[in-house]
Amino acid sequence: MFRKKFLRPSNSEHRVHELGWWYQYFQLPSGVWTGRGTPPSYRPEERWRLIEPFIPADLSNQTVLDVGGNAGYFSVQMKKRGAKRCVLVEPYVEFARQASFVAESFNMNLEIVNEDVHTYCLTTEERFDYVLFLGLFYHLKYPGLVLDRLSEMTRKYMFFQCIVSDAPENETPPNLTFLEGPYKDDPTNWWIPSYSALEPMLRSSGMKITARPHPEILVAEPEEYFGKVVHKKLVFPRYGKRGGAKFPGTQTVAPSLWQELLRKDAERKD
Ligand SMILES: C[S@@+](CC[C@H](N)C(=O)[O-])C[C@H]1O[C@@H](n2cnc3c(N)ncnc32)[C@H](O)[C@@H]1O
Repeated sequence: MFRKKFLRPSNSEHRVHELGWWYQYFQLPSGVWTGRGTPPSYRPEERWRLIEPFIPADLSNQTVLDVGGNAGYFSVQMKKRGAKRCVLVEPYVEFARQASFVAESFNMNLEIVNEDVHTYCLTTEERFDYVLFLGLFYHLKYPGLVLDRLSEMTRKYMFFQCIVSDAPENETPPNLTFLEGPYKDDPTNWWIPSYSALEPMLRSSGMKITARPHPEILVAEPEEYFGKVVHKKLVFPRYGKRGGAKFPGTQTVAPSLWQELLRKDAERKD
Protein backbone atom coordinates (compact mmCIF):
# COMPACT_ATOMS: atom_id res chain seq x y z
CA MET A 1 0.00 0.00 0.00
CA PHE A 2 2.74 2.35 1.01
CA ARG A 3 4.63 1.76 -2.26
CA LYS A 4 1.56 2.46 -4.35
CA LYS A 5 1.02 5.76 -2.60
CA PHE A 6 4.25 7.35 -3.81
CA LEU A 7 4.58 5.46 -7.04
CA ARG A 8 1.39 6.71 -8.66
CA PRO A 9 2.45 7.41 -12.26
CA SER A 10 1.51 11.06 -12.07
CA ASN A 11 3.55 11.60 -8.95
CA SER A 12 6.47 9.56 -10.28
CA GLU A 13 6.39 11.43 -13.59
CA HIS A 14 6.36 14.73 -11.77
CA ARG A 15 9.35 13.77 -9.63
CA VAL A 16 11.32 12.48 -12.62
CA HIS A 17 10.69 15.79 -14.35
CA GLU A 18 11.67 17.80 -11.27
CA LEU A 19 14.98 15.93 -11.08
CA GLY A 20 16.00 17.40 -14.43
CA TRP A 21 18.12 15.70 -17.07
CA TRP A 22 18.76 11.96 -16.78
CA TYR A 23 21.81 10.20 -18.19
CA GLN A 24 20.57 6.67 -17.47
CA TYR A 25 17.32 5.99 -19.32
CA PHE A 26 15.31 3.18 -17.73
CA GLN A 27 11.88 2.29 -16.48
CA LEU A 28 10.76 2.76 -12.90
CA PRO A 29 8.35 0.36 -11.17
CA SER A 30 5.58 2.91 -11.81
CA GLY A 31 6.08 2.41 -15.56
CA VAL A 32 7.54 5.91 -15.92
CA TRP A 33 10.84 6.22 -17.83
CA THR A 34 13.68 8.39 -16.59
CA GLY A 35 13.83 11.26 -19.08
CA ARG A 36 13.71 10.88 -22.86
CA GLY A 37 16.83 8.89 -23.68
CA THR A 38 18.23 11.49 -26.07
CA PRO A 39 22.03 11.03 -26.44
CA PRO A 40 24.21 11.43 -24.46
CA SER A 41 21.58 9.63 -22.34
CA TYR A 42 21.71 5.88 -22.88
CA ARG A 43 19.94 2.64 -21.98
CA PRO A 44 21.99 0.97 -19.25
CA GLU A 45 20.16 -2.33 -19.63
CA GLU A 46 22.19 -2.97 -22.79
CA ARG A 47 25.38 -2.80 -20.69
CA TRP A 48 23.72 -4.83 -17.96
CA ARG A 49 22.86 -7.66 -20.45
CA LEU A 50 26.60 -7.98 -21.17
CA ILE A 51 27.68 -8.29 -17.54
CA GLU A 52 24.62 -10.07 -16.14
CA PRO A 53 25.76 -13.60 -17.20
CA PHE A 54 28.82 -13.19 -14.94
CA ILE A 55 26.84 -12.21 -11.83
CA PRO A 56 25.34 -14.91 -9.59
CA ALA A 57 21.56 -14.92 -9.51
CA ASP A 58 21.67 -14.89 -5.72
CA LEU A 59 23.72 -12.12 -4.14
CA SER A 60 22.36 -12.46 -0.62
CA ASN A 61 25.00 -11.59 1.99
CA GLN A 62 27.10 -9.94 -0.71
CA THR A 63 28.29 -6.35 -0.67
CA VAL A 64 28.55 -4.11 -3.72
CA LEU A 65 30.34 -0.88 -4.51
CA ASP A 66 29.09 1.09 -7.54
CA VAL A 67 31.47 3.97 -8.26
CA GLY A 68 30.27 6.77 -10.55
CA GLY A 69 26.90 5.11 -10.00
CA ASN A 70 24.85 7.96 -11.53
CA ALA A 71 21.09 7.40 -11.07
CA GLY A 72 21.59 3.92 -9.62
CA TYR A 73 20.48 1.59 -12.42
CA PHE A 74 23.27 -0.95 -11.78
CA SER A 75 22.95 -0.76 -7.99
CA VAL A 76 19.25 -1.53 -8.36
CA GLN A 77 20.06 -4.64 -10.45
CA MET A 78 22.45 -5.88 -7.74
CA LYS A 79 19.87 -5.22 -5.00
CA LYS A 80 17.23 -7.05 -7.05
CA ARG A 81 19.52 -10.10 -6.81
CA GLY A 82 19.51 -9.78 -3.05
CA ALA A 83 22.77 -7.91 -2.35
CA LYS A 84 22.72 -7.08 1.35
CA ARG A 85 24.54 -3.78 1.00
CA CYS A 86 25.19 -1.49 -1.93
CA VAL A 87 27.22 1.71 -1.75
CA LEU A 88 26.88 4.13 -4.67
CA VAL A 89 29.50 6.87 -5.03
CA GLU A 90 28.53 9.89 -7.13
CA PRO A 91 29.97 13.42 -6.82
CA TYR A 92 27.26 15.28 -8.77
CA VAL A 93 24.40 16.29 -6.49
CA GLU A 94 21.94 16.16 -9.40
CA PHE A 95 22.67 12.45 -10.03
CA ALA A 96 22.96 11.58 -6.34
CA ARG A 97 19.42 13.01 -5.88
CA GLN A 98 18.18 10.94 -8.81
CA ALA A 99 19.75 7.82 -7.23
CA SER A 100 17.91 8.52 -3.94
CA PHE A 101 14.64 8.87 -5.78
CA VAL A 102 15.32 5.66 -7.75
CA ALA A 103 16.12 3.76 -4.54
CA GLU A 104 12.88 5.04 -3.01
CA SER A 105 10.93 4.09 -6.15
CA PHE A 106 12.24 0.52 -6.03
CA ASN A 107 11.76 0.47 -2.26
CA MET A 108 15.43 -0.37 -1.78
CA ASN A 109 18.10 0.84 0.55
CA LEU A 110 21.12 2.20 -1.30
CA GLU A 111 23.91 3.96 0.58
CA ILE A 112 24.54 7.02 -1.54
CA VAL A 113 27.84 8.81 -1.00
CA ASN A 114 27.87 12.22 -2.70
CA GLU A 115 31.64 12.33 -3.21
CA ASP A 116 34.43 11.96 -5.72
CA VAL A 117 35.76 8.43 -6.16
CA HIS A 118 39.37 9.49 -5.50
CA THR A 119 38.44 10.82 -2.08
CA TYR A 120 36.21 7.85 -1.35
CA CYS A 121 38.81 5.23 -2.24
CA LEU A 122 41.59 6.98 -0.38
CA THR A 123 39.63 7.45 2.81
CA THR A 124 38.05 4.05 3.35
CA GLU A 125 39.58 0.72 4.28
CA GLU A 126 36.41 -1.17 3.39
CA ARG A 127 36.35 -4.01 0.90
CA PHE A 128 33.39 -5.23 -1.18
CA ASP A 129 32.48 -8.54 -2.80
CA TYR A 130 31.55 -6.89 -6.11
CA VAL A 131 32.89 -3.63 -7.49
CA LEU A 132 31.20 -1.91 -10.44
CA PHE A 133 33.67 0.42 -12.14
CA LEU A 134 31.60 1.31 -15.20
CA GLY A 135 32.00 4.36 -17.41
CA LEU A 136 34.27 6.12 -14.95
CA PHE A 137 37.97 5.38 -15.58
CA TYR A 138 38.28 7.98 -18.39
CA HIS A 139 36.66 10.66 -16.19
CA LEU A 140 39.51 10.46 -13.67
CA LYS A 141 42.69 12.48 -13.55
CA TYR A 142 44.42 9.76 -11.48
CA PRO A 143 42.79 6.66 -12.95
CA GLY A 144 45.64 4.27 -12.07
CA LEU A 145 45.46 5.32 -8.43
CA VAL A 146 41.72 4.65 -8.31
CA LEU A 147 42.10 1.36 -10.18
CA ASP A 148 44.73 0.18 -7.70
CA ARG A 149 42.54 1.13 -4.76
CA LEU A 150 39.45 -0.49 -6.26
CA SER A 151 41.40 -3.68 -6.99
CA GLU A 152 42.46 -3.86 -3.35
CA MET A 153 38.83 -3.20 -2.37
CA THR A 154 37.48 -6.08 -4.54
CA ARG A 155 36.97 -9.40 -2.77
CA LYS A 156 35.36 -11.38 -5.61
CA TYR A 157 34.76 -9.63 -8.93
CA MET A 158 35.28 -6.30 -10.57
CA PHE A 159 33.19 -5.26 -13.58
CA PHE A 160 35.07 -2.67 -15.57
CA GLN A 161 33.80 -0.68 -18.55
CA CYS A 162 35.77 1.99 -20.35
CA ILE A 163 35.54 3.66 -23.74
CA VAL A 164 38.59 2.89 -25.89
CA SER A 165 40.39 5.03 -28.45
CA ASP A 166 40.57 2.42 -31.21
CA ALA A 167 38.82 -0.65 -32.54
CA PRO A 168 40.20 -4.13 -31.74
CA GLU A 169 41.05 -4.69 -35.43
CA ASN A 170 43.30 -1.57 -35.49
CA GLU A 171 45.08 -2.63 -32.34
CA THR A 172 47.96 -0.37 -31.27
CA PRO A 173 50.47 -0.90 -28.45
CA PRO A 174 48.81 -0.19 -25.07
CA ASN A 175 48.54 3.56 -24.53
CA LEU A 176 46.49 6.25 -22.83
CA THR A 177 45.55 9.46 -24.66
CA PHE A 178 45.62 12.54 -22.45
CA LEU A 179 42.90 15.16 -22.97
CA GLU A 180 43.79 18.65 -21.89
CA GLY A 181 40.53 20.29 -22.91
CA PRO A 182 36.95 19.02 -23.17
CA TYR A 183 36.24 15.84 -25.13
CA LYS A 184 32.94 15.71 -27.07
CA ASP A 185 31.86 18.86 -25.16
CA ASP A 186 32.40 17.08 -21.88
CA PRO A 187 34.98 18.80 -19.66
CA THR A 188 35.24 15.83 -17.26
CA ASN A 189 37.24 13.41 -19.42
CA TRP A 190 41.00 12.98 -18.90
CA TRP A 191 42.44 9.76 -20.28
CA ILE A 192 41.24 7.41 -23.02
CA PRO A 193 42.97 4.01 -23.13
CA SER A 194 43.53 2.05 -26.31
CA TYR A 195 41.78 -1.29 -26.74
CA SER A 196 44.98 -3.16 -25.91
CA ALA A 197 45.63 -1.14 -22.73
CA LEU A 198 42.62 -2.35 -20.71
CA GLU A 199 43.77 -5.86 -19.85
CA PRO A 200 47.38 -4.99 -18.88
CA MET A 201 46.12 -2.10 -16.72
CA LEU A 202 43.88 -4.40 -14.71
CA ARG A 203 46.54 -7.12 -14.53
CA SER A 204 49.03 -4.55 -13.22
CA SER A 205 46.76 -3.84 -10.29
CA GLY A 206 46.73 -7.51 -9.26
CA MET A 207 43.62 -8.63 -11.15
CA LYS A 208 43.11 -11.59 -13.45
CA ILE A 209 40.85 -11.06 -16.47
CA THR A 210 38.23 -13.77 -16.57
CA ALA A 211 36.13 -12.50 -19.47
CA ARG A 212 35.86 -9.70 -22.04
CA PRO A 213 32.23 -9.82 -23.20
CA HIS A 214 32.64 -6.57 -25.18
CA PRO A 215 35.71 -4.58 -26.34
CA GLU A 216 34.97 -2.05 -23.56
CA ILE A 217 34.04 -4.48 -20.78
CA LEU A 218 36.25 -6.64 -18.58
CA VAL A 219 35.31 -9.05 -15.83
CA ALA A 220 38.18 -9.54 -13.40
CA GLU A 221 38.95 -11.25 -10.10
CA PRO A 222 41.79 -10.63 -7.64
CA GLU A 223 44.87 -12.72 -8.43
CA GLU A 224 47.63 -11.18 -6.37
CA TYR A 225 46.66 -9.13 -3.34
CA PHE A 226 48.94 -6.09 -3.17
CA GLY A 227 47.39 -4.77 0.05
CA LYS A 228 47.53 -1.15 1.22
CA VAL A 229 49.46 1.33 3.31
CA VAL A 230 47.36 3.55 5.54
CA HIS A 231 48.63 7.01 6.37
CA LYS A 232 47.13 9.11 9.13
CA LYS A 233 46.92 12.24 7.05
CA LEU A 234 46.23 12.34 3.35
CA VAL A 235 46.77 15.47 1.27
CA PHE A 236 45.20 15.25 -2.16
CA PRO A 237 45.64 17.89 -4.91
CA ARG A 238 42.69 19.80 -6.27
CA TYR A 239 42.47 19.22 -9.98
CA GLY A 240 40.28 20.31 -12.86
CA LYS A 241 40.40 21.73 -16.36
CA ARG A 242 41.60 25.34 -16.55
CA GLY A 243 38.72 27.68 -15.77
CA GLY A 244 36.43 24.72 -14.96
CA ALA A 245 35.13 22.88 -11.91
CA LYS A 246 37.70 21.64 -9.44
CA PHE A 247 37.75 18.12 -7.99
CA PRO A 248 37.70 16.27 -5.66
CA GLY A 249 34.55 17.27 -3.84
CA THR A 250 30.83 17.45 -4.39
CA GLN A 251 29.93 18.92 -7.80
CA THR A 252 26.98 20.50 -9.55
CA VAL A 253 26.53 20.28 -13.32
CA ALA A 254 27.14 23.68 -14.98
CA PRO A 255 23.66 25.30 -15.33
CA SER A 256 24.25 26.10 -19.03
CA LEU A 257 25.09 22.44 -19.81
CA TRP A 258 22.08 21.20 -17.79
CA GLN A 259 19.75 23.55 -19.71
CA GLU A 260 21.25 22.47 -23.03
CA LEU A 261 20.70 18.77 -22.21
CA LEU A 262 17.09 19.46 -21.16
CA ARG A 263 16.51 21.49 -24.33
CA LYS A 264 17.75 18.62 -26.52
CA ASP A 265 15.39 16.25 -24.69
CA ALA A 266 12.45 18.64 -25.09
CA GLU A 267 13.12 19.07 -28.83
CA ARG A 268 13.24 15.35 -29.46
CA LYS A 269 10.39 14.23 -31.68
CA ASP A 270 9.23 10.62 -31.46
C1 LIG B 1 29.59 7.83 -18.10
S1 LIG B 1 28.75 7.95 -16.58
C2 LIG B 1 28.59 6.24 -16.13
C3 LIG B 1 27.48 6.01 -15.14
C4 LIG B 1 27.24 4.55 -14.74
N1 LIG B 1 28.35 4.00 -14.04
C5 LIG B 1 26.93 3.74 -15.97
O1 LIG B 1 27.76 2.91 -16.38
O2 LIG B 1 25.84 3.93 -16.53
C6 LIG B 1 30.00 8.53 -15.46
C7 LIG B 1 29.51 8.75 -14.06
O3 LIG B 1 30.64 9.01 -13.22
C8 LIG B 1 30.40 10.17 -12.47
N2 LIG B 1 31.70 10.80 -12.18
C9 LIG B 1 32.38 11.71 -12.92
N3 LIG B 1 33.52 12.06 -12.29
C10 LIG B 1 33.56 11.33 -11.15
C11 LIG B 1 34.49 11.22 -10.09
N4 LIG B 1 35.58 11.96 -10.08
N5 LIG B 1 34.21 10.38 -9.06
C12 LIG B 1 33.09 9.61 -9.09
N6 LIG B 1 32.17 9.66 -10.08
C13 LIG B 1 32.41 10.51 -11.08
C14 LIG B 1 29.51 11.02 -13.36
O4 LIG B 1 28.82 12.02 -12.65
C15 LIG B 1 28.60 9.96 -13.94
O5 LIG B 1 27.52 9.66 -13.11
